[in-house]
Amino acid sequence: MTNRKKRLAIFASGSGSNAEKIIEYFKGNQNVHIEAIYSNRKKAKVLERAEKHKIPSITFNKSHFLEDTQSIIDDLKSKKIDLIVLAGFLLLIPESLIDAFPQKIINIHPSLLPKHGGKGMFGSNVHQSVSESGDTESGITVHFVNKEFDKGRIISQIKCVIKEHDDPQNIASKVLAIEHQYYPMIIDQLLENKYYEGS
Ligand code: GAR
Repeated sequence: MTNRKKRLAIFASGSGSNAEKIIEYFKGNQNVHIEAIYSNRKKAKVLERAEKHKIPSITFNKSHFLEDTQSIIDDLKSKKIDLIVLAGFLLLIPESLIDAFPQKIINIHPSLLPKHGGKGMFGSNVHQSVSESGDTESGITVHFVNKEFDKGRIISQIKCVIKEHDDPQNIASKVLAIEHQYYPMIIDQLLENKYYEGS
């Protein structure tokens, strides 16, 4: 860990319960600071959560994000962001943003990738797919972001058991509980360089 604090940007499109867990986990941390929340939805609940914790927020629409990505890159660079954390951010990250932050963008996916991943696989769609598959386990995958949905190098996976009577909603709440418990910790360990070893 260098002397200066590591600076995080969180990207979220919806409720932001994971974003809030990350904010709470790093509150008062000597080594890590959450610089801002970025969202493509002006009415997303994550923006209320950001305000509650006095974290600045930046919003943009889909076309701004995809066609004027450079202005977002410039903003992130001006804030000297060390790690971009996707927490329920549902737009594909443009190549220029990935190239500007190589191995510095991570995502959480609510299944054990490569199962139940890819375009259109988000939120309840994922848990529906797990339920229909008859899988006896699900869980979370934290991975680096590359140019395809859910295909970047896996950093960590945590599993939970799926019982026969579990419906998509039960599966969703089991998985969300694991996300809340582990995502902040995995980010912390990543910032300590743990997952870069041997890479
Ligand atoms: C989380 O379950 C996250 O894994 C999922 O969206 C949810 C966001 O919840 N992400 C994806 O499905 C990405 N493909 P939150 O807004 O309450 O943190």
